[in-house]
Amino acid sequence: MKSLWGGRFSEKQNDFFFQFNESFSFDMRLAEVDIIGSKAYAKGLQRRGIFTEAELASVLQGLDELLHEVQSQPERLIQALREGYEDVHSFVEYQLTQKVGDLGKKLHTGRSRNDQVATDLRLYLRGELDTTVSLIQDLQKTLATVASQHPNTVMPGYTHLQKAQPILFAHYLLSYYEMLKRDGGRLEDARRRLNVLPLGSGALSGNSMGVDRQFLASELGFDGITANSLDAVSDRDFAVEFMSAASLGMVHLSRLAEDLILYCSDEFKFIRMGDQVSTGSSLMPQKKNPDALELIRGKSGRVVGNLMGMLTVLKGLPSCYNKDLQEDKEALFDSLDTYKACLRVMRLVLETMTINEERMAAEAEKAYMNATDLADYFVGKGMAFREAHHLVGEIVLHAIQADCSLHELSLEDYHRFSNLVDTDVYKALEIMAVLRKKSSIGGTSPDQVQAALNSALS
Ligand code: ARG
Repeated sequence: MKSLWGGRFSEKQNDFFFQFNESFSFDMRLAEVDIIGSKAYAKGLQRRGIFTEAELASVLQGLDELLHEVQSQPERLIQALREGYEDVHSFVEYQLTQKVGDLGKKLHTGRSRNDQVATDLRLYLRGELDTTVSLIQDLQKTLATVASQHPNTVMPGYTHLQKAQPILFAHYLLSYYEMLKRDGGRLEDARRRLNVLPLGSGALSGNSMGVDRQFLASELGFDGITANSLDAVSDRDFAVEFMSAASLGMVHLSRLAEDLILYCSDEFKFIRMGDQVSTGSSLMPQKKNPDALELIRGKSGRVVGNLMGMLTVLKGLPSCYNKDLQEDKEALFDSLDTYKACLRVMRLVLETMTINEERMAAEAEKAYMNATDLADYFVGKGMAFREAHHLVGEIVLHAIQADCSLHELSLEDYHRFSNLVDTDVYKALEIMAVLRKKSSIGGTSPDQVQAALNSALS
């Protein structure tokens, strides 16, 4: 058992409690940032005369060696599990002391694991946040690229999962591009509040060594320093903000997954999943299942659950650090890993799926999806929309009974309902004409979609 305390205890810690209490098994992934933070702190201490120049040089050398070891041999951390460290901070201090002797024991002067772990987490999450934002941007690019490969493909648009109005497939894909753009923006926004340094807050009340916190902040690339030590040691808002943004991001991925699962079913046949991201059945030889998408949809539940868990951990905490806060890590790491993996897999799905353009276009001709356009046609001839709506409802009912489309009704058929109809109605009902009319900014007209594509791909 390697802990950073012990003098005031006369009995050895219970073995089972040690396992219960330790966090090294999951906070070992903070080793790099813990070392980087420690290097900055050592420099801060030297500026206050705690280390001489020469001592600092040897501490920094020890820390750099350790950094190199954990980077180049990650298995070293797994091996260290057997050595019984209480947490990553104990591991780093112990290893440093092994390398530089008693000098290592000075590193924690004025520092607490409370401001240390808060700093580590921010440093770690900052890097991960940047990776996540670029994964989101990659997926946005993929959505836009697939959209640009099918610029004129028409598909049915749905509301209530009922065919509603025809849309361009590219327009559909770009709707997710927009969601992802907001998801990335939320992370960038959270990053601004995250990038503030808590180190130098001590256990709760401040640093008694007079370390220059601004110096530490600039060493570690923080934009500023926290203003209140009590808040700084127990603030995990940045974790909640990330987990919340990740939850919403996962909800978007889950909705896309749900769409694509439907679209690759035999009922829809709009897309075919790539073999690379599909699985088979152990019993039914013909099956090909969209497991990648189902897992993304399923994992969204996990990420939302992590957010709820985290908020619940925080809600009853008294002021300052409490050990409950150790529970922040597994949930945060899990949300991070899960979100990043889902972003990668979704991209693979999109890159490997095949689009059945004919089937989509054929389905877009069905179900009277141009009925609103027939009503608009009557509006163009001077009829009030509400009246036109009713009239077209009757025409649709007639067409359903005659088992034909609006296109297939003859002029005489139309004249039984209204004399306003002329031969130009057939042009107005054509799918491309229908699409072209949706030319408001953000609409599905080919021009609008092309403009959206251009800006997405620029
Ligand atoms: N492993 C601990 C955590 O993750 C580090 C901080 C411990 N602080 C303390 N006062 N015991 O929260």
